[in-house]
Amino acid sequence: MTADYKVLGDIAVITLNNPPVNGLGLSTRQGVADGVAKANADAGVKAIVITGAGNAFSGGADIKEFGSPKAMQEPNLLSVILALENSDKPVVAAVHTVCMGGGLELALGCHYRIASPGCSVALPEVKLGLIPGAGGTQRLPRVLGVEAALNMIVSGEPVPSEMLAKLPGQQLFTKMAVSAESLMAEALAYAAEVASVRPLPLVRNLRCKHPLGDAYFQFARNMVKGMSKNYPAPAICVDAVEAATKKKFDDGMAFERDNFINLMWSPESRALRHIFIANRAASKIPDVPSDTVQRAINSIAVIGAGTMGGGIAMNFLNAGIPVKMLEMKQDALDRGLATIRKNYESQVTKGKLKPEKYEQRMALLSTTLIYDELRDADLVIEAVFEEIGVKEAVFKELDRVMKPGAILASNTSTLDLNKIAAFTQRPQDVVGLHFFSPANVMKLLEVVRGEKTAKDVLATVMTVAKKIKKTAVVSGVCDGFIGNRMIEQYARQAGFLLDEGCTPAQVDKAVEKFGFAMGPFRMGDLAGNDIGWAIRKRRNTEQPGMMYSKTADLLCEKGRFGQKTGAGWYDYMAGKRDAVPSAEVVKMVEDHRVSLGITARKIADEEIVQRLVFALVNEAAHILEEGIATKASDIDVVYLMGYGFPIYRGGPMNYADQVGLFNVVQAMNRFAKNPLDDANFWKPAPLLAKLVAEGKTFN
Ligand code: NAI
Repeated sequence: MTADYKVLGDIAVITLNNPPVNGLGLSTRQGVADGVAKANADAGVKAIVITGAGNAFSGGADIKEFGSPKAMQEPNLLSVILALENSDKPVVAAVHTVCMGGGLELALGCHYRIASPGCSVALPEVKLGLIPGAGGTQRLPRVLGVEAALNMIVSGEPVPSEMLAKLPGQQLFTKMAVSAESLMAEALAYAAEVASVRPLPLVRNLRCKHPLGDAYFQFARNMVKGMSKNYPAPAICVDAVEAATKKKFDDGMAFERDNFINLMWSPESRALRHIFIANRAASKIPDVPSDTVQRAINSIAVIGAGTMGGGIAMNFLNAGIPVKMLEMKQDALDRGLATIRKNYESQVTKGKLKPEKYEQRMALLSTTLIYDELRDADLVIEAVFEEIGVKEAVFKELDRVMKPGAILASNTSTLDLNKIAAFTQRPQDVVGLHFFSPANVMKLLEVVRGEKTAKDVLATVMTVAKKIKKTAVVSGVCDGFIGNRMIEQYARQAGFLLDEGCTPAQVDKAVEKFGFAMGPFRMGDLAGNDIGWAIRKRRNTEQPGMMYSKTADLLCEKGRFGQKTGAGWYDYMAGKRDAVPSAEVVKMVEDHRVSLGITARKIADEEIVQRLVFALVNEAAHILEEGIATKASDIDVVYLMGYGFPIYRGGPMNYADQVGLFNVVQAMNRFAKNPLDDANFWKPAPLLAKLVAEGKTFN
C-alpha cells in the first residue's frame, strides 16, 4: 500500500506515500479508501488529516498508469473522493509543495483544507488535451469563483497557494498554515477544532454563479477559441465550468465525466500524452543503467566560433558553466564574440535578459588561439568546417592536449563519427552532439553514439543536455542521423511534386495546413538551399543514380540559396522574412517540367501531405530497424522538437499509428504506381511491412 495510516491521539493521519510526487495510483487510492474506512470504524478517532509524504501533497494521476486499465480500476479517484466526502468524521487535507490535478480534486473532496505557503496549485489536465475528470471543473469554481477557476483550468498553470488564499471569498483553503514546517501541527490542531462541527461542510453544496452569466461564458469561449484552434480541450473546459453554474452538482459531474472520456480518445489528447511519455523516455538509453557513474562537467571548450560554435557556447553560459572558445585566427574569434554579444544585447533590449545577467554570462566566456589552454576542460565540443580533413586535424590536437577522461564531442551533421573517433587514441571518449541551428534557441539535441562511445560518456552528456535545457535523443551513426536522414526523403518527395505539377507555395501551404510550422520550401530557404546542394553533390559521387528532382540544383545554380541571399524558392525583401512567391522560380519549375516532357496535373493537398509525411515514416521504419533509433517515440521527439512537426499530431510515428499502418502502406502502394515517382521509394521498409502483417503499431 502506498499510503500510510497512523493515529495521533484522537486524529487519524493518512499519508500518501508514492514517490516522487505521490501519484494517485491504484495502491495509493486503495490506501486512502482503507484509511478512511478504518478511521470511521475506530471509536477513538474524532477526525482525519490527509497529507503527502516528501516533496508533494500529490502531483495527481500516476503516470505509470497512463492509459492502462489500472487507472480506472476501483477504487478509482471518483470513488475515493466520494468516500472522503461521505466520511462521518471530518477530513482535513493538509496540502503543501505540490497539489495538482487529481491531488487537488482529492483535496476538494475533503471537508476542510489547510495549505502551507508556497504550494503550487494547478489543474494541468488541459496540457494533456483533457479536462479535469474527478470533479475539478465542478468543485474549483465553487470554492474560487468562476473566473479564477476557469483561468486555472483553461491554462493549466500553477498558482501559489498564498495567492489563491488572498482571493476574496475563496474557500479553497479554509485555513493557511504559517509555514511548511508547522503545517502538520497546525493541521492536527485544526482537525481537533472542527472535530465536532456538524453538518460537515461539502464543496458540492456551495453556490456557483457568475454575475454576468451567459455573457461571461460567451466572452470566455471567444477568448479560448482564438488561442487554441487545434485543440478541443480548452473550449470544453469552458463548457464544463458553465455546467457547474447551470446544472445540479451530480449532473455537472456527469457532464464533466462524459467530456473527459471523449477527450481521452481524441487524437489531440492521445498525441499530447504520447509526447509527455516520449519526452521522458528519450533520456533513457536501454543498455545504459540509470545508476551509471557520470563524469563531472564543470567547464567547456568550444572549437570554432562560427554560426554553431557561438550558439553552442551560449547554451552553457546561460546555464552558468564557463566556456573557452578556440579559433585559428584572432579576427574569427573577434567576429564570434561580437555575434554572441549582439545576441545577448538584443535580448537585453527586448527586456528578456537583465543587464547584470548579461555581464555575468559574458564573464564566463574566454577565448584562445592555443590548444594547450583547453587542457583542463571537462567537455570539448568541436564546431569547425564540415570537412573530414579539418576534423582530423582538430581531433588529433584534442587527443594530444585534453586531460584524460575529458569528453570529446563533434557537432558534425553529416560526417562519420566513428571515423572522427578513430583520429584519436580514445574513441571511447568521443561522442556526437548534434545541435540544431540556431543552437541557442532550438531545443533538440541529437546525441550520436559511436561504435566505441563509452556508456558513462553517454550518461554524462544526457545529463549535460538537461542542464542546458535541451531535449536529447540518442542516434546511432548513419548519414544524417535520425532527423536529417528522414528529411532528405521528405525533400525528395517535395521535389517530385514540383516536377509533377505543384508550385513551391502550393506544397508549403498544404503542409502548413496539416500543421507543420513551415513547409519544405520555406524551410529550405531558412536553412540555406546550398547545404542540401552540397550534400547532393557528394551523394552523386558516392551513390550515383539516386533519383531526385533537379529543380533544387537549378535553383542553387541561380545563386538562390534562400533568405541569406534574399532569394530562394521565394523572394525576400531586404530585412524581411516574409516569403513572397517568385515568378522566376515558378517559370523555372515549369520550364524544367516541359524539358522532362511532363504535363502538369492538379495535385490534391491530401496527396501532398501523405507523400511527404509517409516518406518520413518509411525512412523512420528503416532507422528503427537498423537500431539507429532505439524507440519509435524517440523519432517523434526529434520531429516535434527539431522539425516543426505539429504537436497535436504527436510526431510522424504516432501519426502513422493513428492513421493505421495498414492505411499508410495502402497509400504507399498507390504512390508506387505513379510513373513519375521513384517506384523503389515506396517499397515499405521491412519493419513497416512486418508491423502491418502482425496488425501492430510503432509505439
Ligand atoms: P561556420 O563556417 O559558421 O563556422 C565554422 C568555424 O570554425 C569558423 O569560424 C572557422 O573559422 C572555424 N574553424 C575552421 N577550422 C578550424 C580549426 N581547424 N580550428 C578552429 N576553428 C576552425 O560553420 P557552422 O555552420 O557553424 O558549422 C560548424 C559545424 O556544425 C559543421 O560541422 C556543421 O556541419 C555543423 N552543423 C551546422 C549546422 C548549421 O545549421 N549551420 C547545424 C548542425 C551542425
